[in-house]
Order: sequence, then C-alpha cells, then structure tokens
Amino acid sequence: MFDLTGKVALVTGASSGIGRASAVALANQGARVAVAARRLDRLEALVAEIKNHGKDALAVQMDVTNKADIDNAVAQTVKTFGRLDILLNNAGVAEFVSFLDMTEEQWDKTLDTNLKGYFLVAQTAAREMAKNNPPAGGGRIINIASIASGGVGVGFPSIAHYCASKGGVVAMTEALADELAPMGILVNCIGPGVIETEMTEGMLKDPKQAEALLARAPLKRAGKPEEIASAVVYLASDESSYTTGATLYIDGGWLAT
Ligand SMILES: NC(=O)c1ccc[n+]([C@@H]2O[C@H](COP(=O)([O-])OP(=O)(O)OC[C@H]3O[C@@H](n4cnc5c(N)ncnc54)[C@H](OP(=O)(O)O)[C@@H]3O)[C@@H](O)[C@H]2O)c1
Repeated sequence: MFDLTGKVALVTGASSGIGRASAVALANQGARVAVAARRLDRLEALVAEIKNHGKDALAVQMDVTNKADIDNAVAQTVKTFGRLDILLNNAGVAEFVSFLDMTEEQWDKTLDTNLKGYFLVAQTAAREMAKNNPPAGGGRIINIASIASGGVGVGFPSIAHYCASKGGVVAMTEALADELAPMGILVNCIGPGVIETEMTEGMLKDPKQAEALLARAPLKRAGKPEEIASAVVYLASDESSYTTGATLYIDGGWLAT
C-alpha cells in the first residue's frame, strides 16, 4: 500500500517542519521529490539526507510570493524528473498581532504567502498534471490548511489574517476539486492542529501558553510533523482515489470537543 514509485512530487516549505517531514515520507514511499523553499542550504541538506537513503530528490529555491520563482521551480522539477504528479502546497507564515494593531503590510504578507502563493503554485503544477496520461491527465494537490480555517466553530485571536488565508485555502480546495476532476486531478486539504515546528516553537516553549494550548486537544500533546506526513502520503497515493474536495483534520481531537 501507498507505493509512490514512478511518481514525482513537489513540496513547498520543505526546509522545515511539516514540509520537510512530508518530503522524507514521500521519498520513503518511492516518489522522486523536488523540495522548495527560500533557505537553499536547508534544502540541500535535506536532499543529501534523502539521497543517503537511496532515493532521489532535487533542491529548488523558491519564494512562493514570486511567480518567476514558481515557474522556475516547476520547470526544474519537470526538466529533472520528466513529469509532476503530486503537489504539497505547504509553505506558510503565521504572525501573531492583535486585530486593532494589524497593518496592511502584515495582512498582505500573510495572504500573499498562504493563499495567493497556494493559488500560483497549484495553477502552475496543475497545468503540468493536466498533461499526464493523455488525454485524461492526472495528479494530486494537497493543501495544508489548519484548524484555524474557519467553519468549524473555533475562533483564534490575534491571527485574523492567518485564519482568513487558511479559510481561503479550504474554499479554493473545494472549487479546484470540482474543476480539476475531469483532468484526473484530486485536490484535498489537511487541517493540522498544534504541531511541533518552527512555527509553534515559541508558544510551546512557554509553559503557560503550551499548557493552555494543549489542554484543548483530548490527546493533550502537540503533534509531530511525521503525523501530518503520513496523511500526505495517503492523499498522494492510489489508495485515496475516491477522495477529493475533503479536509482531513489531524488535531489530537481538538475539533471533536
Ligand atoms: N505547526 C502547526 O501547528 C501548524 C498548524 C496548522 C497549520 N500549519 C501549516 O503548516 C504549514 C507548514 O508550517 P510548519 O508548521 O511546518 O512551519 P515551519 O516549520 O515554520 O515551516 C514553514 C515553511 O514555509 C516556508 N516558507 C515560508 N514563507 C515562504 C515563502 N514566502 N516562500 C517559500 N517558502 C516559504 C519556510 O521556508 P523558508 O523560510 O526556507 O522559505 C518553511 O519551510 C504552514 O502552511 C502552516 O500554516 C502548521
């Protein structure tokens, strides 16, 4: 099960956290993986690690707010590996700031990275996936949203821009699932709860904040990036062939309470 041999994946935000763990997991299942982010040194170290395990990978520097970078990353992936089957849209930022103090620049940076970036990368990737298995096309787009995406009865203070971006990701996922189905492209979301990464490091190091945060999830702990990566592998695999337009929340049970 979950054999990705012959598949080519592009992972954004692969220099740390969920993206890094997902790139390793996809490679372990046999996919050749292009890893993208701004910190090239981190990507090169990841590629070396994947290659040490006998798998194939490529580092491509890409800022998701820069369309030329995105075009180049997708072109490099296809030039190196010959095709593109799987996109993990994962690169993201989260900056805590009260709504009354939030600046237009902070709003734009978050939306440009977390939502417009997802649009641009998904569009560029989907154009490649539409060329697979002619005339049917075929591929997988997996978007990382959040339990802060809205529509689930939980509000999060001081990250209104982040919540808006992630809500947009869920809405875009559903629209794309419908529109890209005739091209054989399945589009799904994962909505993580609190996961131990650079993004949450500050909060989780502060005992008071960590306690308040982790008390919300029945499992009473933060998740590991690998616990999201396993769902990425499922959604990338043939075993999820009847799943599209879904959001899979992986949150230690937070939304069930
Ligand atoms: N950790 C959580 O609790 C949690 C919960 C829900 C959702 N998420 C989502 O999960 C995703 C991954 O986050 P993470 O938790 O793994 O955090 P992380 O460790 O901080 O990773 C964020 C990644 O995004 C990349 N990135 C940021 N801005 C970028 C840009 N403009 N262009 C290209 N890459 C960019 C970073 O790489 P460079 O700096 O090298 O570019 C980094 O690889 C995000 O979408 C986040 O919103 C996380």
